[in-house]
Amino acid sequence: MTSFKRMAECGLAGKRVFIRADLNVPQDDAGAITDDTRIRASIPCIRAALDQGAAVMVTSHLGRPSEGRFSAADSLAPIAKRLSELLGREVPLIRDWVDGGDWHASLKPGKIVLLENCRFNVGEKKNDETLARKMARLCDVYVNDAFATAHRAEATTQGIARFAPIACAGPLLAAELDALGRALASPKRPLVAIVGGAKVSTKLTVLKALAAKVDALVVGGGIANTFILAAGGQIGKSLAEADLVGEAKSILAAFPGKVPVPVDVVVAREFAATATPSMKSLDAVDAGDMILDIGPRSAEALRSLVAGAGTVVWNGPVGVFEFDAFAGGTKALAHAIAGSKAFSIAGGGDTIAAINKFGVADRIGYISTAGGAFLEFLEGKTLPAVAVLEQRGSP
Ligand code: 3PG
Repeated sequence: MTSFKRMAECGLAGKRVFIRADLNVPQDDAGAITDDTRIRASIPCIRAALDQGAAVMVTSHLGRPSEGRFSAADSLAPIAKRLSELLGREVPLIRDWVDGGDWHASLKPGKIVLLENCRFNVGEKKNDETLARKMARLCDVYVNDAFATAHRAEATTQGIARFAPIACAGPLLAAELDALGRALASPKRPLVAIVGGAKVSTKLTVLKALAAKVDALVVGGGIANTFILAAGGQIGKSLAEADLVGEAKSILAAFPGKVPVPVDVVVAREFAATATPSMKSLDAVDAGDMILDIGPRSAEALRSLVAGAGTVVWNGPVGVFEFDAFAGGTKALAHAIAGSKAFSIAGGGDTIAAINKFGVADRIGYISTAGGAFLEFLEGKTLPAVAVLEQRGSP
């Protein structure tokens, strides 16, 4: 079990507190926030620090901007606005903050500032020590509350924690580790994992790790297409990764019967919200078809698997649920998980969007704010941002 200092154990009154949150939220083309789950999840930590009378600095990354250059598209300005609405107070946004200055000198206990996108700073991604030391000098207490970025060893997630006078875990980070650790340490069986999404390549290691741990591994979306090819099926012009068919074949061979592939699908001639859907059994898919969802027989098989599970872990949709005509499979899955007695754990941006779209959030056992970090946790990998807090020790 993890052993690190928790924010609740640190006296914060009158202290300068640097909170690394994950406020990396999806935005539309005009920059409007389309899902503020991560911002809302970060509020308890920020509010607790303010209520204790800390002078609070919060930062996060947003997107993957080039370092050393401000770009308006990646600015935290919309985040500052939303934070300010949620906290009911002003949240000034500070640019060029690494070396401190007037904004730092005038930051009073009980006040908050948001420090611009930390990935604008040169050395953030490479976890540069000089940068990390400078940032550590800004605070008395460093709080990492960014579970969703805990798989990244960057200057605000790992380096600063080495040099800050005190380094501790915020309530969201601690709650995520507690909940996921407890649910996965000795899960109630059968344990069913559903891993969907576009590409096998981004999830290959988690697929391998999960296949060895779970009782059934359901693949969905583009990932399923690669597995269909591996099983000898036809996918027409669907998205798939031909170079990973061999890997998919070896997973199928190593875990016979554990990795079901869809038996029927919903196809279209083009990838568009307005495309005409048509149901087909898998063996009827032709060269002009694109598979955009699972069909009703596959959805029913998935429902019955989930209904009989003790624990369900879900990451990634099984179809293009953003298009209503191809949302049926993911909708059926969301409702099956919500209706199952199994303890369910879900994570990932698309998964959260699907959960919200189908209105089942209150019937999922635990929803993680993380995508990549959630997957690495499932794989059993060490998360560098957590490891450094452990090295700094328990109280
Ligand atoms: C995420 O959205 O998974 C986290 O915010 C990490 O973002 P990154 O993949 O750009 O590091």
